[in-house]
Amino acid sequence: MQITLEIQRYDPQKDKEAFFEKYDVEINPNDRLLDALMKVKQYIDPTLGFRKSCAHGVCGSDAMVVNGVERLACKTLIKDVINKDGSPIKIEPLQTLPIQKDLMVDQSRFFEHYRQVKPYFINKEPIKEKERIQSQEEREDFDDGTKCILCAACYSACPVVRGINPSFLGPASIVQAERFIDDSRDEGFEERASLLDFPDGIWPCQNFYQCTRVCPRHIKITQLINKTKENIVKYRTSRGEKIHDLP
Ligand code: SF4
Ligand code: FES
Repeated sequence: MQITLEIQRYDPQKDKEAFFEKYDVEINPNDRLLDALMKVKQYIDPTLGFRKSCAHGVCGSDAMVVNGVERLACKTLIKDVINKDGSPIKIEPLQTLPIQKDLMVDQSRFFEHYRQVKPYFINKEPIKEKERIQSQEEREDFDDGTKCILCAACYSACPVVRGINPSFLGPASIVQAERFIDDSRDEGFEERASLLDFPDGIWPCQNFYQCTRVCPRHIKITQLINKTKENIVKYRTSRGEKIHDLP
């Protein structure tokens, strides 16, 4: 079948503003959107810029906005994004992050926020046996957070980041913090709590659930954010302290 892709183009080195360009592509409805983009790049317009690496939903590099919704191009089948009214499939870069070229965005701010929450194992105690033992149930406690591939789809979809408070830490960073907070072997809760408990930290989240809707790994992001908030409230209350800026 033939489809039309309407792709946002923008090269900051030569374009004054972004514009849309249409490309007709012959494709099987069971092929992926990434296959269609590759066809455009290989056979129609080699100047089209987009990122991809694994092509199997693992590296998180090809997140983009398709018909207004954040998706991974390599996990999106053409038949799932064809518009019933026959209009072109509209493809735009992730929102809020600066455009480097066409569908490629500068993810520096997203990764700065990610590093801010210390997304690594903290435990200064020496290991008593060969390894730090953990039960199956304890491992399951943080399983959801381990699925994140840092694609930034949630960050792009978040209405808080998009307008209410662009300095908000963002959903993915909090998912990463909770992944370690929930790990029975980790002892970095106090350090992370102080990094999350500030006005632009965890509190700007207003439970819009947009992050949860778009996450290609189906992580229950909003639920994890609320769990982290509860953990911080419990911790502060147990110490007779006030929450920094509880809305
Ligand atoms: S939480 Fe989901 S949407 Fe957000 S960066 Fe991780 S995988 Fe992507
Ligand atoms: S190319 Fe790696 S997730 Fe899509």
